[in-house]
Amino acid sequence: MGSGAPIGIFDSGLGGLSVTACIHDLLPFEDLHYFGDSANAPYGTKSPEAVAQRCMAIGDRFMDQGVKAMVIACNTATSVCVEEMRQRYPVPIIGMEPALKLACQRGDGRPQRVIVAATPLTLKEDRFSRLMDRFKATHAIFTQPCPDLVRIVESGHLDDHDLVDATLHRYLDRYDLDTMDSIVLGCTHFVFFRGRIAKICPPGLALIDGNGGTARHLRNLLAESGQLKDDGAPGRILIANSDPSARMLEYSRHLLESGRGRACPSSAHKL
Ligand code: DGL
Repeated sequence: MGSGAPIGIFDSGLGGLSVTACIHDLLPFEDLHYFGDSANAPYGTKSPEAVAQRCMAIGDRFMDQGVKAMVIACNTATSVCVEEMRQRYPVPIIGMEPALKLACQRGDGRPQRVIVAATPLTLKEDRFSRLMDRFKATHAIFTQPCPDLVRIVESGHLDDHDLVDATLHRYLDRYDLDTMDSIVLGCTHFVFFRGRIAKICPPGLALIDGNGGTARHLRNLLAESGQLKDDGAPGRILIANSDPSARMLEYSRHLLESGRGRACPSSAHKL
């Protein structure tokens, strides 16, 4: 595969656009093909089999497009089938997982109190249990499924602050946030709520996502295999969605622009 080939990036819907914005910021000469599966979102309340079936269909589509790598910009899809995709496709597959390791490392050895917000399916899968097992003996970790946040993004209600704040309070009011060190945004849709979450949280509480780490991991893999496109020609971002309506494509563009240029927090995350 030549370095001029595109990179395929996908999510259950629109959340992966936050990752795409970050990748474009770091790798501005790469052509990116984004696929959002909004017609089948959310994945986080589906069975693993149903999610895996969709991911293979999307992966096959990317192979037909001649991609040189794929990014699963979805914690849920990664937890269900990253290994199956790595066996099925002869290109690097970069997955995402809740950035719990980064959250726990922040304390320089001191035990951390961390809320991991993710989809119900991510939190149920073995992959996340294994991640928890690495940190739960030394840190206090609270898992919080937040499926309605995905619905808010997909239904175009991100700017309905009353609805967003009420939903955030419903999920977070059960915690004494003053005693927490961080919240892990373990679903790519949740990154779009960063500003609203910050407003209801104490200033010292860190909001951590895996977008920056994923972009850097992709760059390193491409550099190691000599497939980085750095010819100075601006990369193009093509957006496709299983909901092909003009409204969906316009909304996707809007979300991509709103994410672009935003600081992608540093992350030790590597998968
Ligand atoms: N954006 C996805 C994730 O990172 C999943 C959202 C969903 O479809 O439930 O987990």
